[in-house]
Amino acid sequence: MNSLLDAQGLVKHYQIGGGGLFGLGERPLLKAVDGVSLSIDAGETLGLVGESGCGKSTLGRLLIRLLPPTAGRVIFEGQDLTSLHGASLKQARRAMGVVFQDPFGALDPRMTVEAIVREPLLIHGERADRGRTAAMLEQVGLPASAAARYPHEFSGGQRQRIGIARALILQPRFLVCDEPVSALDVSVQAGIVNLLQDLQARLGVAMLFIAHDLGVVRHISDRVAVMYLGRVVEQADKRTLYARPMHPYTQALIAAVPALTPVGRAERRAKRIRVGGDIPSAMAIPSGCRFHTRCPVAMPVCRETDPPLVEHAPGQSVACYLYGG
Ligand SMILES: Nc1ncnc2c1ncn2[C@@H]1O[C@H](COP(=O)(O)OP(=O)(O)OP(=O)(O)O)[C@@H](O)[C@H]1O
Ligand SMILES: [Mg+2]
Repeated sequence: MNSLLDAQGLVKHYQIGGGGLFGLGERPLLKAVDGVSLSIDAGETLGLVGESGCGKSTLGRLLIRLLPPTAGRVIFEGQDLTSLHGASLKQARRAMGVVFQDPFGALDPRMTVEAIVREPLLIHGERADRGRTAAMLEQVGLPASAAARYPHEFSGGQRQRIGIARALILQPRFLVCDEPVSALDVSVQAGIVNLLQDLQARLGVAMLFIAHDLGVVRHISDRVAVMYLGRVVEQADKRTLYARPMHPYTQALIAAVPALTPVGRAERRAKRIRVGGDIPSAMAIPSGCRFHTRCPVAMPVCRETDPPLVEHAPGQSVACYLYGG
């Protein structure tokens, strides 16, 4: 087990509502993440793709222990994160960073850029001199003069650069990027993806890169995991996944990848996966294979038994009875 990070049987369920009279009724269970195992090597980028609500952000937060799991474990550098608390958890977290989707909400508007970027150093009791933040700002392509200014003075793309600088200032070994370009103008998206790829190569940080569609992660990922209703249904190295997708859901996602033209975001959204209807609710996950209600090639067995994620070809795992099992 040489991976940087190993997630084993991760589950995150939410109990919704107050239940019936006196709270005695059965409270519905929302299964945001429903049994995910995956591993990420040092310096590697894993793309994580799936429709809205399938549990990508929840999984990302579980991996860096921003959320405690309902069940399962996360082993990071040989240490079980789920068993850590207080000072030892804080110590482990130092090695992990996160970049959020919304560059407008993620930065404190009352703090200068320098204060924002420096804050993690202070939290962890590290040397926080000007030179260190200035060097970090330079690495993300911001001028030194940005340090004294406030987030609202910057464009969305530049704010995302500030968020990236903050996420990397502690030199993490694992970075979760949760749809870091989805809220940005299409015209600046490529610049941010290229920057992340560049920094990733330069700093050797491993990354989980979350996105809605397979188009965005193609460029940056070494491997890609496809998520559906709380589960990973297929995982493979990039070349294999795009050349020979096995799961019918992955095949549908690949067919939905928008052309490389600057179409508006609304248009891209409208083009997303069309595989017979909408994604079922995470509160009513179908029996058997959770994809069977939308699967164009579902068989009787798919309604009854949940297919496990099995390695069917070197480096390619798929949870689908089309390939036996
Ligand atoms: N704190 C919470 N309490 C209850 N339900 C939650 C909570 N957080 C997330 N959920 C639910 O869990 C499911 C997965 O949410 P999550 O945000 O992880 O999905 P996602 O794949 O990141 O979606 P998106 O692409 O829209 O960001 C959704 O049904 C969501 O409504
Ligand atoms: Mg999300």
